[in-house]
Amino acid sequence: MARLHTAALLCFCVIGYAAAMGGGGPALDRPTTYAQLDGVKGQWDITIEATKGADKDVFVPQACDSPVLDAPCNQPLLNADAHDKLKITAKVAKAPLKAADGLKPEHIVIKMCFSKPFVADRPWRKPNDIIDRDRSCPQTVATLPVAANNTYTVTWPIPKAAPKATWYVKVFADCKNGTDTVYCQFDSTADKAYVATSIIESTPTAMKAAVAVCSAIAPVFLALFFIKERVLKKTA
Ligand SMILES: *[C@@H]1O[C@H](CO)[C@@H](O)[C@H](O)[C@H]1NC(C)=O
Repeated sequence: MARLHTAALLCFCVIGYAAAMGGGGPALDRPTTYAQLDGVKGQWDITIEATKGADKDVFVPQACDSPVLDAPCNQPLLNADAHDKLKITAKVAKAPLKAADGLKPEHIVIKMCFSKPFVADRPWRKPNDIIDRDRSCPQTVATLPVAANNTYTVTWPIPKAAPKATWYVKVFADCKNGTDTVYCQFDSTADKAYVATSIIESTPTAMKAAVAVCSAIAPVFLALFFIKERVLKKTA
């Protein structure tokens, strides 16, 4: 029974890992790549404000051009337990916004992306040129209809699952291309404005335990499997 249990857990680990490594994945609604939007990227003024003091209704500018967690401009680290929030304002610098293939923007999508140092060596945050498969931008903050004043403001409470990391903002436009909805424009605050989050006691203990067990037993099982294979082959 115990063996069955561990085997099931191992399967779960292996499948989880395979999923994290990004196999095929489901069909995409929006197959657009960043490369496709190269000619129209930019065009936005994006500012980040954050609740950095005790009063969580007071936003102060967060203008840190360093992705380093310890950089003084990234202090204090924001977190869900303190009820910290971000306010992101994206304004088209010079209207009208120019989109790929002369398409007409319908929505503005705002996402949070992990900075380079927090993507390195983490296959589960692997960037991808296909925008919807880019795991370095896992958080969609808002999808807003196109506004006449070309200004988009969104308040984002730091989610409980936000790990210790620095982030930047990416803004996309989506457009109808025939019957398809595609991304047709993007900009980001990479190298210009980052924000840092920490995690205090937000990860459920059970989750931490499961992750620890998973990472501890997976290599042991693999090793046992190979040893068993070899021994069986020799005696056969
Ligand atoms: C829009 O559709 C055309 C025709 O299928 C395609 O060539 C083009 O790349 C599409 N544009 C975008 C931005 O997806």
